[in-house]
Amino acid sequence: MQDQISSLRSIIEDEVGAANDLAALEAVRVATLGKKGSVSGLMKGLGGMSPDERKTMGPLLNALKGEVATLIAARKAVLEDAALDARLKTERLDITLPVLDHPSGSVHPISQVMDEIAEIFAGLGFDVAEGPDLESDFHNFTALNIPPEHPARQDHDTFYLAPDANGDRKVLRTHTSPVQIRTMMSKEPPIRIIAPGRTYRSDSDATHTPMFHQVEGLVIDKDTHLGHLKGTLEAFLKAFFEVDAVTLRLRPSYFPFTEPSMEVDVQCSFDGGMVKIGDGNDWLEILGSGMVNTKVLEACDLDPTVYQGFAFGCGIDRLAMLKYGMNDLRAFFDADLNWLRHYGFRALDLPTIAGGLSR
Ligand code: DAH
Repeated sequence: MQDQISSLRSIIEDEVGAANDLAALEAVRVATLGKKGSVSGLMKGLGGMSPDERKTMGPLLNALKGEVATLIAARKAVLEDAALDARLKTERLDITLPVLDHPSGSVHPISQVMDEIAEIFAGLGFDVAEGPDLESDFHNFTALNIPPEHPARQDHDTFYLAPDANGDRKVLRTHTSPVQIRTMMSKEPPIRIIAPGRTYRSDSDATHTPMFHQVEGLVIDKDTHLGHLKGTLEAFLKAFFEVDAVTLRLRPSYFPFTEPSMEVDVQCSFDGGMVKIGDGNDWLEILGSGMVNTKVLEACDLDPTVYQGFAFGCGIDRLAMLKYGMNDLRAFFDADLNWLRHYGFRALDLPTIAGGLSR
């Protein structure tokens, strides 16, 4: 009987070694450890043995069963590795192949406009700053001189999150202005940044989507004045709309975080339903701006007798619509392939001042 066990063991060893794929290995498993398998058959025989025989044969058969299971598992791991290697080989992609005959993606107009804006301001010495979409109430409102009972809070149609254990509610930032606060609290002046990004308000129609995009601008230094603000905005809007003559109108306005505040309009015409920037008899409101309120500087621990600066905020979606002639904001988010093909930009054409922003 013991001879029978050891010869069975060596036969099984050979069979396992000869199994060249997972299906063949499974067949060996069924033929040995399966219900009607050779090893299981021997185990069944234990029942008909005398107690003495069973005492010696039981452990031997159990050991055989364990050894066979280990052998099969080890072989299985080897075969699985080989199968994975073979699959990876067939799935290999040659990314150096030219893409000419393949469908290709394009850059979304919002991304294009963000790139154009960053390129223009990089030329004026601005860095790009970022902040989180999920903001604290402090950064989004309080530090910007919008305290809890301030009426401006109502204008923002804010999405609030459930309060945390301390009763603090986070908000989906309603504007990019909190990035001003984050920048002033973490960097020494002189500061020159723009902060493009996503913003959120509970509002939805042809010209409003609950998620939209803004770009914030902030300059803080020791001798910054309104002339710098006007010059910067003029340089930006000329470069952005790619027209030499852009006439701006600064209208007195109110924002809690700037004093004085102004809204900026550009001269335009609406002939034949088309907006043309640069000449004409109409005005188009483009952005909000002003000199940074001393209360905001103080909230960020900057001494207003030493530092001052200007800030502005502008809707990117609207800029894109104006520049590229789109009339419904919702199309930006429809993922309509025809629309994307029509309005998309070539992936490798990065906007540069020298090469032309939009070609
Ligand atoms: N945060 C304002 C808004 O969302 C826009 C704005 C206005 C930003 C004036 C500014 C500013 O930095 O100075 O409507």
